[in-house]
Amino acid sequence: MNITHDVIIVGSGAAGLYAAYWSSTKADVAVLSKLFPTRSHTGAAQGGIGAALANEEEDKPLWHWFDTIKGGDYLGDQDAQKVLCYDAPGTIYELEHMGVPFSRTPEGRIAQRPFGGHTRNFGERAVRRACYAADRTGHVILHTLYEQCVKQNVHFYSEFQVLDLIMSDDQTKCLGVVAYDMLSGDIITVNAKVVVFATGGSCKNFATTSNCQANTGDAFGIILRNGLPLEDMEFVQFHPTGLAGLGILITEGARGEGGFLTNAEGERFMERYAPTVKDLAPRDMIAQCIYKEVLEGRGINRTGRICNEDYVYINLMHLGKEELQKKLPEISDFATTYLGIKPWEEPVPIMPTAHYIMGGIPTDVDGRVKRNAQGDIIEGLYAAGECACVSVHGANRLGTNSLLDLVVFGRRVGLHVAKNVDAIPYGQIRGNPAAKVAGEIETLKKSTGKERHGAIHEDMANVMMEKASVQRTEQSLTECKQALMELRERFQNVGIDDKGTVFNSDLLETMEVGYMLDFSLVQVEAALARRESRGAHLRLDGPIDADGKQQQMPRDDANWLKHTYSWLDNADKADASVRQDYGEVYLLQDHPEGGWEPELVERFKPKERKY
Ligand code: FUM
Repeated sequence: MNITHDVIIVGSGAAGLYAAYWSSTKADVAVLSKLFPTRSHTGAAQGGIGAALANEEEDKPLWHWFDTIKGGDYLGDQDAQKVLCYDAPGTIYELEHMGVPFSRTPEGRIAQRPFGGHTRNFGERAVRRACYAADRTGHVILHTLYEQCVKQNVHFYSEFQVLDLIMSDDQTKCLGVVAYDMLSGDIITVNAKVVVFATGGSCKNFATTSNCQANTGDAFGIILRNGLPLEDMEFVQFHPTGLAGLGILITEGARGEGGFLTNAEGERFMERYAPTVKDLAPRDMIAQCIYKEVLEGRGINRTGRICNEDYVYINLMHLGKEELQKKLPEISDFATTYLGIKPWEEPVPIMPTAHYIMGGIPTDVDGRVKRNAQGDIIEGLYAAGECACVSVHGANRLGTNSLLDLVVFGRRVGLHVAKNVDAIPYGQIRGNPAAKVAGEIETLKKSTGKERHGAIHEDMANVMMEKASVQRTEQSLTECKQALMELRERFQNVGIDDKGTVFNSDLLETMEVGYMLDFSLVQVEAALARRESRGAHLRLDGPIDADGKQQQMPRDDANWLKHTYSWLDNADKADASVRQDYGEVYLLQDHPEGGWEPELVERFKPKERKY
């Protein structure tokens, strides 16, 4: 079957829906998603969306910009980070006018709470910058945007899974996508002037994760298999507070409302590591501190082991039942339902959980996809939201900047498409682009292989968690790479039990595991190559000090203040290999032509991060 739309948006979270909303003001737009739109993972975002809404005295986009730069350990592009923070207030008000039911202050303004790494006046103290709707902020944004898209007559293909891109022979133009109708098993060729990837996150390749089942990073696999690069994939965020043993998110808003962490000795250990902002330090620091506490024997249980044995506590009892049920109802329910703990009575056991990928499909600030480190654009291909790397989060994203990234850049994509779509011609699709996907499906159905996706997925997620998560060394990463190569070999022998056409999750989950094996290898190779610690990428195999103790690798701006671009050569083979190039980080100091104020240039120069 063939279908045609001016614009096809792959993914129905906030980024995809905002892009759909604005592009539908000028074009025929369809959203294609493997989920029903309101089941997208945006709906799980809890604590808030960042924007400097307050009066100039209390907060301003300039301070948000500074916090985002520093929080990202100076790896973000400072010009793009400016767009994120300065577009924020207007975008929040646009959402409010669309009908997003934000929580309110007694004066009737949008309620805001403190969040990690967000400060007033360049680090003076924590500031209320996270706009929220209790702890269901993503849920209300997602539902509002969906309603707006329905109003705009956006066409929805729900439960359709994208399986390939259609590119021009010279890889400079995108012509459409190949998708799979989960209900019928039909393979669909979609011809479009513009394709927008907004497929969300990818952390299901780690054993402990806050991500939903659908977050398998399919777009990453598809991009790599089409000979295109991913950017900064070594930077994976571990949210400090996942329910211990489960990974389910306990929002940072809980610490924003006054919650604090303690170790086995009852000590508020973040006071030692980040004396100014304490439990509201950025996530990379807190996750790394929790690991340190546990490994040094101060975790609850005192086994000194990370995996499902030790943990630390988040304390919320002092907030009281009424306040918890008003401001943090969702996480109160999670703790009660999954651990049998009432957070107003007992502390809640938590450990870091794989939450977010800072890297992704490289784009400019209008979401246009780059095909190399020099920034050449692919005509007709856009990406927005978590699957994109603009790059605004650098080496560590601040909490609340994810929902913000989705809406700011989803909106910008929609506006850019609306402005340009008339001038973009439909590309001529030659041959039968669906044949490759059909062949892969046929091969899987005919396979007599004894391997199954579930076992390969589990082994991959365990090895990624153990060897490539919060702490890394050359040895752990090399072992991880070796394990992934063995898993790729095993994947050659994978078979499926369901040979049918109707909702064949056996087939699709097998294909998802294939994508995860591809981009996991890219993550591990990029982490191996980056011989420094920066943000969420902590390398413990640094120099030996005078006492014979191994130190962590220091941040190395002279050699590593650069973006990683990774390609996967021979992606369809077990012995695929990763090729890398590096791109410039946009720092104000390197761009005098930008006319940046000298005071700002000085302020934004890379420095040691202290909180
Ligand atoms: O903690 C949270 O509510 C998560 C927010 C985020 O990832 O931005």
